Amino acid sequence: MAILPSSTRTIPEIAHVPRHIAVIMDGNGRWAKQRFMPRIMGHQRGVESLRATVRACRDLGVEYLTVFAFSSENWRRPVDEVSFLMSLFLKMLEREVASLHKNNIRLKIIGDRSRFDDTLQQTMGDAEALTSGNTGLTLTIAANYGGRWDMMHAVHSLLQDHPELATSFSEDDLQPYLSMGDVPEPDLFIRTGGEMRISNFMLWQLAYTELYFTDTLWPVFDRNELEKAIASYQHRERRFGRTSEQLLSVPAQS
Ligand code: IPE
Ligand code: IPE
Ligand code: MG
Repeated sequence: MAILPSSTRTIPEIAHVPRHIAVIMDGNGRWAKQRFMPRIMGHQRGVESLRATVRACRDLGVEYLTVFAFSSENWRRPVDEVSFLMSLFLKMLEREVASLHKNNIRLKIIGDRSRFDDTLQQTMGDAEALTSGNTGLTLTIAANYGGRWDMMHAVHSLLQDHPELATSFSEDDLQPYLSMGDVPEPDLFIRTGGEMRISNFMLWQLAYTELYFTDTLWPVFDRNELEKAIASYQHRERRFGRTSEQLLSVPAQS
């Protein structure tokens, strides 16, 4: 796997339209509650927002969209809600994969899959295999994912392959073992639902990502909301540790 530039080791090129957007799709439960509906209706409705966001990203030329669907801490929720989310996930994969494939979208799933039942694991693998050659947008779904799990898992895997590195290894050694080690770090992070926290999402990869928080609840997030987030990103000054004056005088370089 090629080593990609890391934002802490090399200054990345800044794209006008973010190459990679990471989203915490939050607020499903509150959306449903506001309408006196069970929380699960919010999750169901959230699938439509995801569909619209995928389409908008593809149209806008975003290369990577990574969404947080289920965190390693979401197992703490009531059993009924967890099992609804699992069956929704399965249904969504079964129903959407053909259209993703038709639209040249590559689907990837990150997270610890070992806790999912066999059917879900199999369906995930099949969907990834079917779409693996696609060259359009890469949609990555984080399921039973946690940023700490990701880092721990990467270190374990690195040391399994390279026990000689146990006393000393570099960022470049570790990077290929991280879940998103083969794609550029997110340029823009969006969290819907009003909370201003990372909730254990891509802790490593968000090092220099521009953060955008909106009160809009995920089930009503749409293309217009996405464009607002991108417009906010386009007004940011990404300094990566340098001063504004340096940015004016020197083109992006390490
Ligand atoms: C996000 O919406 C979806 C998942 C975590 C699966 P929530 O279910 O967290 O919705 P709120 O935050 O309770 O409104
Ligand atoms: C984060 O949302 C996880 C997902 C959107 C999948 P949560 O609703 O679980 O986050 P907290 O618990 O409010 O931090
Ligand atoms: Mg929430």
